[in-house]
Amino acid sequence: MSPDSIKRIGILTGGGDCPGLNAVIRAVAKTAMLQFRMEVFGIEDGFQGLIENRVRPLSFRDVSGILTRGGTILGSNNRCNPRKYCTALLPDGTPVFSDVTPTCIKTIRDHQLDAIIVIGGDGTMCCAAPLVEAGINVIGIPKTIDNDLFGTEITFGFLTAVATATEALDRLHSTADSHHRVMVCEVMGRNAGWIALTAGVASGSDMILIPEIPFDEDAINQNIRQRMEGGPGFAIVVVAEGARPAHGAPVVARIDPTSPDPIRLGGIGQRVADAIASRTNAEVRTTVLGHVLRGGMPIAADRILATNFGYHAISILMEGASGRLVVRENNVFSDVDLLVSAGRQRLVPPNHSLIIAARAVGTSFGDRLSHTRGAADTSSVV
Ligand code: F6P
Repeated sequence: MSPDSIKRIGILTGGGDCPGLNAVIRAVAKTAMLQFRMEVFGIEDGFQGLIENRVRPLSFRDVSGILTRGGTILGSNNRCNPRKYCTALLPDGTPVFSDVTPTCIKTIRDHQLDAIIVIGGDGTMCCAAPLVEAGINVIGIPKTIDNDLFGTEITFGFLTAVATATEALDRLHSTADSHHRVMVCEVMGRNAGWIALTAGVASGSDMILIPEIPFDEDAINQNIRQRMEGGPGFAIVVVAEGARPAHGAPVVARIDPTSPDPIRLGGIGQRVADAIASRTNAEVRTTVLGHVLRGGMPIAADRILATNFGYHAISILMEGASGRLVVRENNVFSDVDLLVSAGRQRLVPPNHSLIIAARAVGTSFGDRLSHTRGAADTSSVV
């Protein structure tokens, strides 16, 4: 389809909500309306809206005044994959799945949408893949607090989550110091340790446990004993929800069989705290930040990123792009094949320059290394 014939677009927000979703919706819709006189439609609750034909026109007013608002005015859903959609539950609770991609395509055609802007993480891009394969023009925008989408050095929502986690860790510092305690704080991030690493460094946490560096319980206890007995007498330990011991698995909080990514992690913070309490003399407390990291206003950096991503999505669409994901690489906005990024995670390289810097200032990663060997990975994290 020639760019000149793109007159009506739909916007969909999928996966877990995060700060900056409304800022992206605003940027996409305003660019489309003001620069290209397009009609813009909002698809409600992610792919659920395509399946249930819940699509509504968005006016300029609808997308004004939402830059700073948390959540998404369109609603979202992280339990809905059109290719594997739960249509019924058997009496024993087993889900029955169907491929409802044709229903989604029918909704898009019925509303005469010439392109869909899909805002989401790797799960959402996987859900968008069959639409791309069916010839629907999809442009993806990378969203997730986890910052783990393959192909981009940053996703919007991440920096706000890091700012929230950093403030929480700063606050835990007071109690750690005043009560001479070990304060363990678990943060989200799925299989990636980006939030724990960056918030841990920003708050000066003493120990950072991430999935990419499996931890050694003896090394943790030795480090805590040193801090409690020969050091400042308190410690802050930040634990990514996907962190795991060298010879163990991540802790699964629950399994949601109807979700595209059925595993929900959680509980490792308490396990680490219990292990420290039982093997040292330290008094230990645990805080789980959970969904607090997904809520509230986006910080300025995320509003700027969201505006750039939204503008770039419409720009490349009008340059003739199709089936592309907008990305930022080396601080430059560009785009990659959406099908290549879909379902692939970008984890923290254990030789990342921020890990090297953190080790240099005495931060422990729950292992026995005090410095990282080999060349550094210098990919940007802010
Ligand atoms: O992907 C974002 C995220 O918040 C992860 O960090 C977390 O593991 C997951 O979503 C939680 O999902 P839910 O909202 O379904 O509990």
